Amino acid sequence: MAFPQTRLRRLRRTGALRSLVRETRLAASDLVLPLFVTHGSDVREPIGAMPGVERLSIEHAVAEAGEAAGLGLPGVLLFGIPATKDAEGSGAWDEEGVVQLATRAIKEAHPDLLVITDLCLCEYTDHGHCGLLADDGEVDNDATLELLARAAVAQARAGADLIAPSDMMDGRVGAIRAALDEEGFTHTPILAYSAKFSSAFYGPFREAAGSTPAFGDRRGYQMDPANADEALREVRLDVEEGADVVMVKPALPYLDVIRRVKDETRMPVAAYHVSGEYAALKAAAQAGYLDERAAVLETLTSIRRAGADIVITYHAKDAARWLRQS
Ligand code: PBG
Repeated sequence: MAFPQTRLRRLRRTGALRSLVRETRLAASDLVLPLFVTHGSDVREPIGAMPGVERLSIEHAVAEAGEAAGLGLPGVLLFGIPATKDAEGSGAWDEEGVVQLATRAIKEAHPDLLVITDLCLCEYTDHGHCGLLADDGEVDNDATLELLARAAVAQARAGADLIAPSDMMDGRVGAIRAALDEEGFTHTPILAYSAKFSSAFYGPFREAAGSTPAFGDRRGYQMDPANADEALREVRLDVEEGADVVMVKPALPYLDVIRRVKDETRMPVAAYHVSGEYAALKAAAQAGYLDERAAVLETLTSIRRAGADIVITYHAKDAARWLRQS
């Protein structure tokens, strides 16, 4: 009887065997929770397209951060919704800006939880673009670098553990590194949104942060979704300029890019499972089309399997709870 000798199913028969040979582990310690921090007090505003996610004023953000820490998440990623916006985005570097205030409050209450601050101007500019506009309406790259550097220093001064530039200006990692070093923050690492694609999946975030560009779009600075070689060039430049962790964003449509970045750089890699990816899974689950828990854990595992060490996801708290039970 000459049946084939390979029997892959032998190791799939029981949970214990499957666990023994599992190649990729997903743990709460891999997941970072994004938080939308808004001005004002006692504010909790639900975000339409992101069920379960709210804009939180600082005291609620502190409580949410405490919950995240209690669930074993290593950190939170802060986005700010300022009271007022202007052409330069001055709320980004204001010492009393909403992210700076929230960072201080969270670090004071939960010193061991990492506070990662998203660094971009689009939440703070009245036109919604990620940088300063030149007279012709284009984003002025080099003038923007100075403002980003200033904002990075303000975030570091507030106690941010990692600075995460998401603007996609050329040369910003080098500019931010130089400014941080000059101000004595030589130990503050940079988590660079290195390969950030111009994606339809950011829609719900822009509603949440009120950062939809007033005109045009972000294709002049964010990456073309069709390009993977270019993503590697972006990543290499950021590493040369001093990035400590590199990020690919969004996650699921770019798993191939995550894998290549990991293989070709061997850097710590983060992947951002973005608002639209969250919204799509939530909507399908709410319609009864998908089992939310199974679909979310499978998705997050696939992002880890592709090569991400860190997954930034709005599902982080739920996933941490589910992983605890499993
Ligand atoms: C700011 C920024 C965006 C996201 C993270 N940082 C929006 C954008 O670039 O339009 C998107 C995150 C998400 O969709 O969850 N530049």
